Amino acid sequence: MTSGGRQQTIINSIKLRHIILSVLGIFILYSSRVAQHTNKINKNNMMKMGSSFTSVASTAFNMPKIGLGTLGLDPTEAKTTINEALSLGYRLFDCAPVYFNENDIGDAFHEATTGVPRSDVFITSKLAGPFHRAEHVEPALRKTLNDLRLGYLDLFLVHWPVAFKYVDFDPSIRGWDNEDIDDSEGGKNFDPTVSLRDTWHAMESLVDKGLVKHIGVANFPVMLLHDMLSYSRIPPAVNQVEIHPYNQQPKLLEYCNSRNITVQAYSPLGTPGFKESDEPHILSDPVLNEMARSKGITVAQLCLQWSLQRGCSVIAKSSNIRHLEENLLVNHKNEFVSGAVQLSSDEMDKIAALDRGYRFFRPEEWWPENPVPVFH
Ligand SMILES: NC(=O)c1ccc[n+]([C@@H]2O[C@H](COP(=O)([O-])OP(=O)(O)OC[C@H]3O[C@@H](n4cnc5c(N)ncnc54)[C@H](OP(=O)(O)O)[C@@H]3O)[C@@H](O)[C@H]2O)c1
Repeated sequence: MTSGGRQQTIINSIKLRHIILSVLGIFILYSSRVAQHTNKINKNNMMKMGSSFTSVASTAFNMPKIGLGTLGLDPTEAKTTINEALSLGYRLFDCAPVYFNENDIGDAFHEATTGVPRSDVFITSKLAGPFHRAEHVEPALRKTLNDLRLGYLDLFLVHWPVAFKYVDFDPSIRGWDNEDIDDSEGGKNFDPTVSLRDTWHAMESLVDKGLVKHIGVANFPVMLLHDMLSYSRIPPAVNQVEIHPYNQQPKLLEYCNSRNITVQAYSPLGTPGFKESDEPHILSDPVLNEMARSKGITVAQLCLQWSLQRGCSVIAKSSNIRHLEENLLVNHKNEFVSGAVQLSSDEMDKIAALDRGYRFFRPEEWWPENPVPVFH
């Protein structure tokens, strides 16, 4: 990615780029319709369309619909993965300080050789639990910006609706030398004196200062969102939540759609890298496998397409080049499958029947000492 001085030199071309992209966008929309009929796109065009598609198929505030998750992205793989992802056309990256790799990802952005300008990339990060108190929100964001080597974020989310006791840190050091910010001590480290309302007003002031373009939340159930809308000057743009065929959350989706809050599906493939061995493996589901086979796509692609068709944005994590490409909804022949492989209402109904309200991320089990069952 271009940054610093190099970014200055391209700034004059950005307006022109936007005009060209708009025209290109109309062309691509038309082309993808044609692709539904022909399903024949050669590889060179594909690469161009892959990158443009993610921009074109974006939400009202220009957030790409498909993004790369970075939970569990090994710091040693960050440079290769980010560079490959940018080259393939990823333009949305989902980060968080509690993934303990933001400094490596920052270096990867900085050293990327793709020439993609910062303004073309949408970068999300999150506010960790120890920094919910109003006076800690901006320093926490600045720490993330320093780690990611960025001047602003496109989206900053309250990671979980639960405040932890403050954890001090040295803002001049990049990265974290321990994982204390993610340690609630089973819930003993909660700080029940911090209100979400105060946290949110501090988040709003980050937008006023131009440090973040948009703010949102993650893991918020309907009633917390509903309350937040009563006091927010800037309503949350996004609620990032666990959504996959085994945890579909239709009521939350309906609520968010009706309030203009984009739902972003995390763990859209059922987090196969993090799940316990005795937990369900969505990618092995027989119904999904049969359906994917009949459509000539993979189960991962089916899951992503299903989420997109429900109006969600999706963020899947991968550091495997084949998966990275596949998750942009490109098939093994490098044909562009999204749009070309729409799920019928019958197929959507079949997947709806797989819902079992199964969560891989269960806060009630992390905090046994002081339970806050966020989703119950
Ligand atoms: N807000 C929150 O509280 C929260 C919680 C969880 C996650 N998230 C975000 O959401 C992102 C995605 O969630 P996630 O990482 O839990 O789960 P996920 O994206 O559902 O699954 C990632 C796993 O699936 C594998 N994979 C990726 N593409 C594949 C494909 N096409 N075929 C087969 N396997 C594939 C990956 O391995 P390879 O690397 O080998 O491909 C990785 O092990 C996270 O990285 C994070 O950014 C947010």
